[in-house]
Amino acid sequence: MTDLQSIKTRFGIIGNYPALNRALQKAIQVAPTDISVLVMGESGVGKEFIPKIIHGESRRKHQPYIVVNCGAIPEGTIDSELFGHEKGAFTGATSTRKGYFEVADGGTIFLDEVGELPVQTQVRLLRVLESGEFMKVGSSQVQKTNVRIVAATNVNMLNAIHNGRFREDLYYRLNTVQIDMPPLRERKGDVHLLFRKFAIDFAEKYRMPELVLTDDAINYLENYAFPGNIRQLRNLVEQMTVVEQERTVNSVKLAEYIPMQTQLPAVIQKGGGISSTDFNSEREIMYKILFDMRNDLNDLKSLTSELIKNRDNSDFSHHEKNLINRVFTPETQTQNPNSMLYFENQNQYQSPVISKADEDYEDVEDIEIEETKEDSLSLQNNERELIVKALEKHKGRRNKAADELGISQRTLYRKIKQYNLED
Ligand SMILES: Nc1ncnc2c1ncn2[C@@H]1O[C@H](COP(=O)(O)OP(=O)(O)O)[C@@H](O)[C@H]1O
Ligand SMILES: [Mg+2]
Repeated sequence: MTDLQSIKTRFGIIGNYPALNRALQKAIQVAPTDISVLVMGESGVGKEFIPKIIHGESRRKHQPYIVVNCGAIPEGTIDSELFGHEKGAFTGATSTRKGYFEVADGGTIFLDEVGELPVQTQVRLLRVLESGEFMKVGSSQVQKTNVRIVAATNVNMLNAIHNGRFREDLYYRLNTVQIDMPPLRERKGDVHLLFRKFAIDFAEKYRMPELVLTDDAINYLENYAFPGNIRQLRNLVEQMTVVEQERTVNSVKLAEYIPMQTQLPAVIQKGGGISSTDFNSEREIMYKILFDMRNDLNDLKSLTSELIKNRDNSDFSHHEKNLINRVFTPETQTQNPNSMLYFENQNQYQSPVISKADEDYEDVEDIEIEETKEDSLSLQNNERELIVKALEKHKGRRNKAADELGISQRTLYRKIKQYNLED
């Protein structure tokens, strides 16, 4: 398996933020399988690197890689683009045409902005994902194809499902593995690194001296919300490289390009009304909070049941016992601000405590998936496949395999039992 650093170098990916590293690592890890991957993240965070890594690190790498921007293709032609059409299928269909799913046979298709797919196309997509079967538009002949799908979205899919714009079954099928790309505003330490990279790139491109940031400018950027994420930063650097005479940039100069107040979400408009876009994002935030709360609850439920099962089991490290005690003792929660970290930062590797919590979180997530997702069978198959691969690769050494899979050894033991993988 290729290591993280060489992937970053190969694809020109800048940054060391743990959540970014984790996303890239997960992509490398799942690449050799045929598992569907859903990449989530705001616009401009670098989602497109993920399918490229996955394809490039898979056995499919010498086969076609096709990017489809689902939001950019008109609704009337998208079925024909994806699945092809027969001659005479509709006005203007003067000849038979192959669609992307036929052309990409053996390779990978990246469905960008998958949340934008029309519902009738979602039905066809689900079928091809489940059985490899599809039909050209205007044909009744079933064809077969073998395509690996990576999809990406910047919309809240749960919201879209709730509003009937996205099929729940398709969502779970696409989302076998989810990779989250963090927004730039969380990656404070990476902002300056990225700025320097773009400053060098554009200095070369436009044959200008490089832009340099003063300390207060770095500080300014690190506290800016970057609604357009890395794409916005890149455009900013390009623009300033060309326009600015003075090559040393301070915060006052930056403020001319990106006023700080744009980072505050203005929910109420001047007239006192609520704009519909702000209303949507408010609603999205509410959904996210509810969703996170549900996850927290599931975490707690599973932790509790594990705790009960393992109460006297020395399997729990001293460290884990501490964690459990802190999470379950209300007084310490209020006295010790650290104990709240578990709830707030369970997805972030910010301290040794958190990384342990994160392992448990994985554990818990698995349980929840098994219980609630309709297609748990195929999920389980995929998971089993991943585990078998990891064990093979490490010649049965479970500690190495667990590391590779990003789960705790305890979880791996449980899964090995569950899937009867003991030899
Ligand atoms: N970590 C990174 N290092 C270097 N460039 C990046 C990074 N993340 C994103 N970019 C650049 O930012 C731009 C937007 O990335 P893209 O993958 O198109 O975003 P998204 O698909 O999430 O909207 C691209 O030019 C990409 O090369
Ligand atoms: Mg994109």
